[in-house]
Amino acid sequence: MKNENIESQFVGKETPFYYYDLNVLEETLDAAYAASSKRGFHVHFALKSNFNSRLLEMIQSKGFGADCVSGNEVQQAINAGFDAKMITFAGVGKSDKEINLALAHDIFAFNVESIQELEVINELAAVQERKAKVALRINPNVDAHTHHYITTGLDENKFGVTNAELERAAAVIRKCENIELIGLHFHIGSQITDMNVFKSLCVKVNEWKNWFEERGVIIKVLNVGGGLGVDYHNPDTNAIPDFEAYFDIFDKFLERTPQQEVHFELGRALVAQCGSLISKVLYVKNGVKKNFLILDAGMTELMRPALYQAFHKIEKLGDANATELINYDVVGPICESSDCFGKEVTLPLSKRGDLVAIRTAGAYGEVMSSRYNLREEIRYVYSDELV
Ligand code: LLP
Repeated sequence: MKNENIESQFVGKETPFYYYDLNVLEETLDAAYAASSKRGFHVHFALKSNFNSRLLEMIQSKGFGADCVSGNEVQQAINAGFDAKMITFAGVGKSDKEINLALAHDIFAFNVESIQELEVINELAAVQERKAKVALRINPNVDAHTHHYITTGLDENKFGVTNAELERAAAVIRKCENIELIGLHFHIGSQITDMNVFKSLCVKVNEWKNWFEERGVIIKVLNVGGGLGVDYHNPDTNAIPDFEAYFDIFDKFLERTPQQEVHFELGRALVAQCGSLISKVLYVKNGVKKNFLILDAGMTELMRPALYQAFHKIEKLGDANATELINYDVVGPICESSDCFGKEVTLPLSKRGDLVAIRTAGAYGEVMSSRYNLREEIRYVYSDELV
């Protein structure tokens, strides 16, 4: 969204739509790739944050792998050109159909979340006469200090195998002939901005890796998940996350041999800042206590504010020098009071037909949209379509 005259280029386009700035995406990917590859790290892009095929094609072309959480995501990654050897498949509830699809493609690894799942993958792999490569997801009980809905690495969370089950999991892996344990997998949460949290994760990863190695198990891959946060308040001045600082933590604190690979599963940090939801003001309503800006986009297009009370910067387009500022509650058209993008947002005086950008919407935006209220399908505009 660096183009100052961007709103004139949006005139005539049907709203609401997701606008993807491919230059921001490219800059972000290049920075992440440079910082990771110089340390010998491999990054898989978490498709759950955005599975838009235009974006995926660019991400694939820049050398990233794909981290998938459904059979359809595995297929989407393959369709976008990702090599099956760079695809991982995670998730607590993989169906037999999804496992079979991933086996048939001979993906890099299944991130396995329970002992029962190990047994099911072993059985299905035997039928296909294959050996499934698996990484065991361990719940490290590290608090990510983020929103409780997106914290995943605590004992009360449903993810991974717990400490108490490890001995049994190791025994099951030993006896399953159609499974090869290639590594360990961890993921503690999302939108993490405190780098000390990743330092604590490294300490736990070292402990678990040692635990397995002491039992003679070779660990080829340490997958430390994703979770690097972005700056929702400053999408222009702080568009590129500090990948150097992030990868440096793992470089410093993760104990590993030169043969051991370190894998990451980043979603948000790679795509959040390249996307904005562009919407039109339908009505301006001056209530008794509040002024409402009623947009043509709602929680059906971007659910994060309604679901997590998440902050997204809201900007009126084309009014850089406005002097008359008003506080608005910026709301959508959906029949739910939670359909609100921001309360008391200070914006230039607005009128019907004005365009508004809801920023940092490239991750967990489009993918979490719904057809509730029988809304229209999501539309997109890409920066390379503008003149
Ligand atoms: N790996 C695993 C196992 C995950 O569960 C996730 C995200 C990721 C990687 C990618 O995490 P990231 O780098 O994007 O933080 N809908 C929520 C976020 C849910 C995250 C779920 N897991 C939101 O809108 O904030």
